[in-house]
Amino acid sequence: MGSGTRLVSFVGGQAGAWRVEAATTIAGAALPAVTAIDAIEAGEPPAGTWTLRGVVSHARYTHAREQSELRARQAGLGRPEATRAALIPIRKSAAWWDLAHDERRAIFEERSHHIAGTLKYLPAIARRLHHGRDLGEPFDFLTWFEFTPADMPLFDELVAMLRATEEWRYVEREIDLRLYRS
Ligand code: HEM
Repeated sequence: MGSGTRLVSFVGGQAGAWRVEAATTIAGAALPAVTAIDAIEAGEPPAGTWTLRGVVSHARYTHAREQSELRARQAGLGRPEATRAALIPIRKSAAWWDLAHDERRAIFEERSHHIAGTLKYLPAIARRLHHGRDLGEPFDFLTWFEFTPADMPLFDELVAMLRATEEWRYVEREIDLRLYRS
C-alpha cells in the first residue's frame, strides 16, 4: 500500500465498537446478519462473520472549487456527540465502469448533483469514502457516515435523495447498515 492510501477493514460479527441497529438490503445480494461492526485501521483485523476492506484514497471526480467548499464545511470523524453511523457498501455495474471518465463525471455531478446537492448536509453528516474495487473486493465502495441521533432524519433524507438520481441507476448492490454506540 503506497503512501497516501490507508487500508480500513470493517469487521462484522458479534463484538465491536458499533452495534447494528438495522440492516437493509437495498439492491443485490444480502450480507450475513451481524450484531456489531468494528472499523480496524491498524494491525491484523480480528476474525468476524465477514470483513470488507477499502482504502481511503484520492478524489476521482471532485473539482478544485468543490474540494475547497467541502474542506471548508466538513466535520471530521469521531465527534463524541456523533453516536450514530451508517456503513453503506456499494457496487456499481459493468455499464458504469465501461463509461469514460468524463461521462461518469457528467452523470455523477452535472446530472445527479452528488456534490452540489449534498453540501448542505455538512457539517452535520461526517463522511469517509473507502475504495475496494482495485483490491478485488465484492464492493467498489464502502461509504461511512457519522451523525448525532437528532440528525438521523436528515441522513434518511440525504440517502433518499441520492437513490433517486441517475447515478444510482448504476448501483447494482447496496446494503444499508445503521449503527450506534453509547
Ligand atoms: C454527506 C453528504 C455527502 C457528500 C458531501 C458527498 C460527497 C462525495 C464526493 C465529493 C464524492 C467524490 C469523491 C471523488 O471525487 O472521487 C463522493 C463519492 C461517492 N459518494 Fe458521496 N457524498 C455524500 C453522501 C453520500 C451518501 C449518503 C452515499 C451513499 C448512500 C454516498 C455514496 C458515494 C459513493 C458510492 C461515491 C463514489 C462514487 C464513484 O466514485 O463512482 N455519498 N461523495
